[in-house]
Amino acid sequence: MYNIAIVGVTGAVGVKMLEVLNTRNFPIKELRIFASEKSKGKKISFRNEEYVVDIIQEDSFNNTHFVFCSADSSISKKIGPLVRKANSILIDDGNAFRMEENVPLVVPEVNEEDVDWHQGIVSIPNCTTTPLVMILHALNKYAQIQRVNVSTYQAVSGAGAQAVQELLEQTEQLVQHKQITPSIFSEQIIMNVIPQVDDFESNGYTKEEMKIVNETRKILHLDNLSVSATCTRVPTMVGHCESVLVDFDQEVDIEEVIKIISKQEGVVCRDFDNINNYPTPLNSTLDENVYIGRIRKDLSNKNSILFWLVSDNLLKGAATNAVQIAESIIKRNKLDY
Ligand SMILES: NC(=O)c1ccc[n+]([C@@H]2O[C@H](COP(=O)([O-])OP(=O)(O)OC[C@H]3O[C@@H](n4cnc5c(N)ncnc54)[C@H](OP(=O)(O)O)[C@@H]3O)[C@@H](O)[C@H]2O)c1
Repeated sequence: MYNIAIVGVTGAVGVKMLEVLNTRNFPIKELRIFASEKSKGKKISFRNEEYVVDIIQEDSFNNTHFVFCSADSSISKKIGPLVRKANSILIDDGNAFRMEENVPLVVPEVNEEDVDWHQGIVSIPNCTTTPLVMILHALNKYAQIQRVNVSTYQAVSGAGAQAVQELLEQTEQLVQHKQITPSIFSEQIIMNVIPQVDDFESNGYTKEEMKIVNETRKILHLDNLSVSATCTRVPTMVGHCESVLVDFDQEVDIEEVIKIISKQEGVVCRDFDNINNYPTPLNSTLDENVYIGRIRKDLSNKNSILFWLVSDNLLKGAATNAVQIAESIIKRNKLDY
């Protein structure tokens, strides 16, 4: 039984953390929950008990085994030293530590063994990187991957609870013919597609796009893998979609590729028997699997394939992966560092 703390428990991911800990029967002895000053005192039920949201203090993590953080990067950076001082393990959903050399970036179905070298912090990848690397991990067993080109269609919940609220409000405003003024997103999101997720960098790509490039290489241990990405925000609530092109170093046998992907743990091939049964955000979310469909040969290059994937950004893209990492640390006896 473990003592755990959740930071950001009132957020889009935090709410799911409680759900996932429960459905995966995570053995919890003591639970502490934290959010901002605004939520202090709020009561939250978990496994038939009531817990009160607190704010973080110096000693908040003493005697905990795991601290799950689903808050802003600045909060992760603030709590990092406190978690370390308490000899606990921080499993961080955000971007704060992902690319740091001494921080494993883990998707257990792909690189579980990387938890072995943690020094008190393990990061989970960005919610678009996670499903992508699960498929690429399988494909890498087929042949050497030369290049990956991905376009994403990301749900508003990827930008947090306030973004969900913005889509709901804009939907109502649209129906009532009221004026729509964007706040979280740069443009109106209802009835729109925004080709920007996170801020732009000087190279013309967004931070989200560069997260896919850098995190994919780190998780797969392929430092020179060619990856490029275009990330867009679409007016769906949950479930990130990705259209992916993969080039191999040899001609593709598509039947073989499908067989290999079908064997990947955590991945479901929806259109394996029926091409009309492709995954969508509505039919392939609210569970922990990554769904893949539309797997086909590229007509313009015999060495390439195309496919479509959908994954629940709040579950496998965040909460599920975080809890799985804790399970891996326990299983591999790596609580001490
Ligand atoms: N959303 C996704 O699909 C997704 C997927 C993968 C990773 N992530 C990462 O997960 C993190 C959380 O994302 P989210 O979408 O859940 O955001 P969110 O809905 O905006 O939630 C943010 C949470 O942080 C809390 N918080 C704010 N200031 C705090 C403080 N000073 N001390 C403690 N808690 C504080 C908020 O509490 P209040 O409610 O009291 O303000 C809220 O619980 C981000 O780093 C994000 O990059 C998100």
